[in-house]
Amino acid sequence: MRVLGIETSCDETGVAIVDTAPWEAGKPAGMGLLGQALYSQIAMHIDYGGVVPELASRDHIKRILPLINQVLKETPGGLEDIDAIAFTQGPGLAGALLVGASVAKGMALALNKPVLGIHHLEGHLLSPLLADDANIQFPFVALLVSGGHTQLMKVTEVGEYTILGETLDDAAGEAFDKTAKMLGLSYPGGPAVSNLAKTGNPSTHQFPRPMKHSGDLDFSFAGLKTSVLTQVKKVTAANNGHLSDSAKADVARGFVDAIVEVLVSKSINALKQSGLTTLVVAGGVGANEQLRESLGQSCAKEGFSVHYPPMHLCTDNGAMIAFAGAMRLKKNPQLATKDWGFDVRPRWPLDELE
Ligand code: KG4
Ligand code: ZN
Repeated sequence: MRVLGIETSCDETGVAIVDTAPWEAGKPAGMGLLGQALYSQIAMHIDYGGVVPELASRDHIKRILPLINQVLKETPGGLEDIDAIAFTQGPGLAGALLVGASVAKGMALALNKPVLGIHHLEGHLLSPLLADDANIQFPFVALLVSGGHTQLMKVTEVGEYTILGETLDDAAGEAFDKTAKMLGLSYPGGPAVSNLAKTGNPSTHQFPRPMKHSGDLDFSFAGLKTSVLTQVKKVTAANNGHLSDSAKADVARGFVDAIVEVLVSKSINALKQSGLTTLVVAGGVGANEQLRESLGQSCAKEGFSVHYPPMHLCTDNGAMIAFAGAMRLKKNPQLATKDWGFDVRPRWPLDELE
């Protein structure tokens, strides 16, 4: 089965074609990723310090058809070989989602192919299965850390997700982005804060580890953000209104150490409490080097295994949507319909997924 996937939930236009044949033959599912193309709008939003929804929607309109054509050109076979079309139905920016939904439904109508809406977070949490060396068995615990979400989930099988814990306020990626802003770094802040932290002194700032000992699996990063702001103001005031590069690096280091410690501690607790031994990490913050290193050490110590998507599939992309669509359809082919009406779900809790 061949699935075309379309992702337009935020500031990346992603298109990919996935074939289930290698996977059905027991080979790594990633071998079925036949073609993909991605356009990131980051350069367009950078001046605004974050995503401007209306600009995002308009840009998706501009990019989506050329990207689909590009993927089709690079993939052996043609449109007639596509068995179904999957698109991100939510959560995300309403206008941006509508672009992907209308293109997917329009193509499906023109080609008379079935189409299905995918939950963006399901795309992320199944994406580690696309790694070349993925040997991941259900059930597992998933740590989903993106710009909009921070959740620990029990993944029993495709479509069966139980939320074990989640953030009560800011998402991990949001905390990275806001810290970056306070340090005068550009959007999106995750990679910039992470790089700067490498040269920072770990002893200069001891930021709080929010909810580390709460006993549950929930997170809260708003207080950490406030502590960072307080320290930035204090250090700036003490230096006649100037924040040097090394002072910025120290703040970045303190912040990264704090957030990584909480994410690792909660993930290990989730594994222990659920009795599972496999951890899967997905979402943009899953690309974070410090998080990967620390999770690797802690999981090895406890005898757990930890898996990530290939680096280029950590942030938003079409491959994860095509793949989630293919996995859902393998489980239940009835999920794709020839219903050409469409809606999007900008707010869509993952545990409401049927
Ligand atoms: O999954 P994603 O592409 O979009 C959402 O679905 O939200 O995640 C984007 C988030 C941004 O907040 C970005 O700053 C963060 O992931 N991010 C990182 C890194 N790369 C991306 N955060 C920390 N370290 C990174 N290397
Ligand atoms: Zn995402």
